[in-house]
Parts: sequence; structure tokens; C-alpha cells
Amino acid sequence: MGRAFVYVILGGGVAAGYAAHEFVKRGVEHGELCIISEEPVAPYERPALSKGYLLPEDPARLPAFHCCVGTNEERLTPKWYKEHGIELVLGTRVKSADVRRKTLLTATGETITYKILLVATGARALKLEEFGVKGSDAESVCYLRDLADANRLVNVMQSSSGGNAVVIGGGYIGMECAASLVINKINVTMVFPEAHCMARLFTPKIASYYEEYYQAKGVKFVKGTVLTSFDFDSNQKITAVNLRDGTRLPADMVIVGIGIRPNTSLFEGQLTLEKGGIKVNGRMQSSNSSVYAVGDVATFPVKISSETRRLEHVDSARKSARHAVAAIMEPEKTTDFDYLPFFYSRVFALSWQFYGDSTGDVIHFGDFLGNSFGAYWVNNGHVVGSFLEGGTKVEYEAIAKITRLKPEIEDLTDLETQGLGFALTL
Ligand code: FDA
Ligand code: NAD
Repeated sequence: MGRAFVYVILGGGVAAGYAAHEFVKRGVEHGELCIISEEPVAPYERPALSKGYLLPEDPARLPAFHCCVGTNEERLTPKWYKEHGIELVLGTRVKSADVRRKTLLTATGETITYKILLVATGARALKLEEFGVKGSDAESVCYLRDLADANRLVNVMQSSSGGNAVVIGGGYIGMECAASLVINKINVTMVFPEAHCMARLFTPKIASYYEEYYQAKGVKFVKGTVLTSFDFDSNQKITAVNLRDGTRLPADMVIVGIGIRPNTSLFEGQLTLEKGGIKVNGRMQSSNSSVYAVGDVATFPVKISSETRRLEHVDSARKSARHAVAAIMEPEKTTDFDYLPFFYSRVFALSWQFYGDSTGDVIHFGDFLGNSFGAYWVNNGHVVGSFLEGGTKVEYEAIAKITRLKPEIEDLTDLETQGLGFALTL
């Protein structure tokens, strides 16, 4: 059994949705494009899962957040794919790939061949077992990567109302889920090994603002330690978590957000890998010229960092996907991807944006007692990164613009004094 396509997108997440949209904009013919996804639904905006999806009232549900509503573009429902002659092969895992023969073998036993393959397999959540802790399969332990996880989390939250949750991990999932738990009237304790939350990006000063805000909402923090085991009752229901420092925290439910691993296993030994992802050039093309990689799974050259990076954020997934399709469909008109990293989050009434690279000296500015403050990162005498909480559209655009311009900074004190004004007047 087999089918043949000109273009195949492997994976049906954010990057797949945006790539399909770009293929259509660039005139793909009916029957040329196929998307194969393990998930049972058409590509959707994954960020909704830790935000609107978890709200107790009027939660976001599909089909409302299919791609590309995240950028205020058209919503690609299953009908849209049908109308454009795109084959959606859903609920189907690809279990092996042969890049030499240009074939994919699905778990249902079908062989699908391609001329050009776009790998958009994203990443999977790391499991506690990978850190030597058993119990991930317990009923009230939740991870959050896909729609099935989100549905499970909603059910567990509903049955834990008024109870205690322990959130393991102080990164994006930990911070966004902790906020959602509070909104669902569940008592939250966050546990993570670092000295402060969001250690990959936030400075101690920025982190302490968010931690104090969370504490005012009732969230407790246990820092500098990790989970070692769970306690269970006679029905195998979790009753508590035990930490390395000896603390025992009662728990009706647990959310684990301890990072991800890119889904590269199909291509190990076939494509060049770097920094955990599939290494691609500025056209998002891998070491095999018929295979492109985009989104969380791709390691690509980032100009502002002067190195290759693998980014785990939605803007990068959307734009790398569009760029790869441009390079595939109109190679002569497409130059190298010139991407400015952009990360953001929204929790409670807070909202921040970050652009660029968080390396070098940090210059904080603004009112850390109010709700509008930020920071610049200055490396080798140039602004390379900018962060802003509580900004307006114009202010966010200004920090994005100066980060791209990388202005030279002679006096760090002067930059601190000017603060946001520096970005607004440049
Ligand atoms: P993505 O994970 O979206 O899709 C991968 C797809 O490939 C999935 O459909 C998967 O099932 C499929 N797949 C994998 N292997 C397969 C196989 N062998 N066969 C078939 N299918 C296979 N970012 C941000 O900037 N702001 C935000 O607010 C958020 N919020 C957020 C919330 C939550 C809950 C998560 C989990 C993530 C975020 N992110 C985020 C990160 C962002 O969602 C992420 O960077 C993108 O989804 C990456 O898009 P991809 O398409 O690369 O992977
Ligand atoms: P993360 O990398 O942001 O954070 C992982 C956290 O795990 C670390 O901060 C650390 O505190 C913790 N940790 C590591 N080892 C641990 C251990 N042994 N025990 C306890 N804690 C440990 O990853 P995440 O929060 O799991 O998020 C998963 C993915 O989803 C990431 O790619 C992230 O970018 C993405 N995401 C992004 C957003 C956003 O951009 N707003 C929102 C949600 C999810």
C-alpha cells in the first residue's frame, strides 16, 4: 500500500499549519501536498493549551484556535485543507523514514513517498523517569504538550478543585500552568532546582518581580531542590510529593514541565544533527537537499547570535515554516532566513516580550514596583537583547526594532537612565 506526493510535511503542529498556508499562497497544486500527523486534529495554535484552554469559564476549544489565528490570518479548518486539495493524514504516526529512498512508513503500514520532505515533528515533553523518578503514569500527574494532555489536565483540575497542586519545573509550562491553577482555585506550590524562575531567560531581578506577583496570588515557591518520589494511597492515588531537601508536600495533582527533547529519532544516522536538532542552512535545508526542517526540531543559523540555535517558540515555528516553503517553491527569489528571536508570555494580568539574545551585560530600566519595566542585554558594546513587561504595541515594536539594529552603546549608565526612551527615540 502506498501513495506519492510532491511535498510531504511530517508533523501536524504549528509549523505544519503555517507551512501549508504558505504552500497555498505560493500556488501548490491540488494533490501535491500531504501532512502526516500523529495528532487526530488539524494543525492548531499550541500556545492556547496553557492559557485559554485551561480557563474555568468560556475556555478556548477547537475549532476556534486552528492555525493561523495566532497571527490574525485565516483559520485553517479541515474544510480548508480539503478545498485546497491538501491530504491530511491524521492520527497517524510515522514510524520510520528513509531519506535515500524518499519514503516514510506509517504505523498503519502505509508507505508514503515524497520529492521534498518538510520535517516539523516538534518535540516531546521530558518525563520524570528520565531523571530517575517513577510515577509519571499516575492518574493525577499531568504533562502538557498536546491536546490529549490538555484534556487530561482539565479533567484532573476539575476533580482537584480547592485542593493542592505541585508544579514541577520553573520554566514556561510551570509558570503558565501555575497561573491557570490559581485561576481554577487550586493551591499551588512550585518546585524547581534553580535559584529563581525562568532561569533560562530572566535575570534574578526580573524573576523576583514575577515571583512576588505569584506569591501575592497565593503561590508558594520551593527552590533549589527537586522531586525524588511520590507517596500513594491504597488506590494508587498520589497523596504527596517528596523533595530531595526532605520536604513533603501534600498533593492532589502534579503538573510536570521539565523541558523538552526534539523529535529527531527518525533521522538519526541519516541527517546531520546539532544542538539536539536537525541542522539546517539559511534555507532551512538539512544535510540531505530533499529534506527541510522547521520549528522546534530545527537548528538554524541565527545572525544576532552569530551561531546556530534551536528555538522552542511559536514565532520561530511560524516564520521558519514560511521561509522553508518560500525556499522550496521559489528558490531563486529566497535569501537566507534572517530571524530575530522573539519570545513572549501572558499570565494573570501580566504580559512580556523578549527579542534577540540574552547574553552580555544586563541593564534594567523602568518601574519594578509598578508594572512597566524591562532590560537590555549589551554584548561587545552592542544591544543584542531587549525585554519589556507591560508594554504597548508601539513600545514592543520599538524594542524589537532596536534589537534588530544592534546600536553601539558607549555608556551603560546613560542607557540605564534613558531606559525605554532609548528604544523609543532611536
Ligand atoms: P509542534 O509540537 O507544534 O508540532 C509537532 C507535531 O508533529 C505534532 O503534531 C506531533 O504529533 C507531530 N509528530 C511528531 N512526531 C511525529 C511522527 N513520528 N509521526 C507523525 N507526527 C509526528 N511558544 C511561544 O512562543 N509562546 C507561547 O505562549 C507558547 N506557549 C506554549 C504552550 C504549550 C502548552 C506548549 C507545549 C508550547 C508552547 N509554546 C509557546 C511553544 C510552541 O508551541 C512551539 O514552539 C511550537 O508548537 C513548535 O511548533 P512545531 O510545529 O515545531 O512543533
Ligand atoms: P523549560 O525549558 O522552559 O523549563 C524547564 C524547567 O524545568 C527549568 O526551568 C527547570 O526549572 C526545570 N527542571 C529541569 N530539570 C528538573 C528536575 N530534575 N526537576 C525539577 N525541575 C527541573 O521547559 P518547559 O517549561 O517544560 O516548557 C516546555 C516547552 O514548551 C519549551 O520548549 C517552552 O519553550 C515551550 N513553552 C513556551 C511557552 C512560551 O513561550 N510562552 C509557554 C509554554 C511552553
